[in-house]
Amino acid sequence: MSTGREPTFEVVPVALGSGRSYDVLIGPGLLGRAPELIEARIGSTRCAIVTDSNVAARHLAPLEGGLKQKGRYLGTHILPPGEATKSFTALADLCERLLRMGLERGDLVVALGGGVIGDLAGFAASIVRRGVRLVQMPTTLLAQVDSSVGGKTGINSPQGKNLLGTFHQPSLVLADIEALATLPLREFRSGYVEAAKYGLIADAAFFAWLERNRAAVSAQDGVALAHTIATSVKGKAEIVARDEKETGDRMLLNLGHTFGHALEAWAGYSDRLLHGEAVAIGICLAFGLSQELGLISAHDVARVEAHFAGAGLPTRIADIPGAGPQPAELLEIMGQDKKVRDGRPTLILVRGIGNAFITRDVASAMVQDFLSRRIEGRT
Ligand code: NAD
Ligand code: GLY
Repeated sequence: MSTGREPTFEVVPVALGSGRSYDVLIGPGLLGRAPELIEARIGSTRCAIVTDSNVAARHLAPLEGGLKQKGRYLGTHILPPGEATKSFTALADLCERLLRMGLERGDLVVALGGGVIGDLAGFAASIVRRGVRLVQMPTTLLAQVDSSVGGKTGINSPQGKNLLGTFHQPSLVLADIEALATLPLREFRSGYVEAAKYGLIADAAFFAWLERNRAAVSAQDGVALAHTIATSVKGKAEIVARDEKETGDRMLLNLGHTFGHALEAWAGYSDRLLHGEAVAIGICLAFGLSQELGLISAHDVARVEAHFAGAGLPTRIADIPGAGPQPAELLEIMGQDKKVRDGRPTLILVRGIGNAFITRDVASAMVQDFLSRRIEGRT
């Protein structure tokens, strides 16, 4: 029952068609209030929790306890942490476990964790009993600003990352900013890249705000952190509302990802290079290529590189520990990307900070030449 003293949260709506709109709640204390918030916004449904062992150790108890108290608890499936969990085997095990718990059409799946858990649990929720409702409870900064919103679910295959998946929008997203207090610093920084990305794509004022307030955000000041997450989610919600299934504008969200995914795949999706770190380098490459094409000033490129470097993030391929990749290796991996059509990469380039655009006009040969020079440190 509400005491009237709970901390407030910000509500960001995601406006989609035919009854699929939902809210993203952002603020402190949402993990403990989840059963009450789910009941108020979705109804008296039974819940199956999916999480990983790191998150379970730190954040599962209040959620599980609250659901049990209300008689809405079906069970918890705890997975090993890490990208390898986004596999066909883990998906199959999870689906069977949900069925064994007795999950019915009217019940819901709660994804408590980072993007790995959100993507996998979302995929399972979209296929078990031909689709059940999903509540995303993101516990990484990356998941709070990006992966929990927008409905993309997926697993990896030997052919590449996220090549199998569905679109399945959540019914509610609860982003508890206090959950981020237990996140390792490197993971927090990695997620920060995806927040800064929204400023770089379409919101120059937000990027300038981050330049002034990065220290407060990094120190997890509640107001600064909530503003960062809410602004990011609004940015994503606007794009997803325009292009839910990524036939156009949603590709803008891939700023830095064409290069970033290739680097991540080359590094073997390992601790050597986290997703956000790969995207930080990818964004700097996209800005560098835009500068070479005469689209953007050296000053803007320097601003972005300085911002990421100041946040303790890598900005160059040479910043990846160990021996670097060959340009041809990266191009071959980029050729597997979902965004490659007719052999030409779909690139997200920029005409300025906050002014990203989608193009297929840059020839692969030019990209290869650019990457060769970047890898050899000649530019
Ligand atoms: P993750 O889920 O692997 O989490 C990172 C690490 O942090 C894990 O070890 C996890 O156990 C741990 N962790 C999570 N929350 C914690 C907490 N509060 N305290 C302590 N430890 C915690 O990684 P991620 O960066 O959240 O997500 C990356 C995944 O998201 C990738 O698979 C990527 O493809 C996917 N993604 C999906 C979308 C989408 O739109 N669906 C968008 C971006 C990324
Ligand atoms: N993270 C990219 C998207 O949701 O489309």
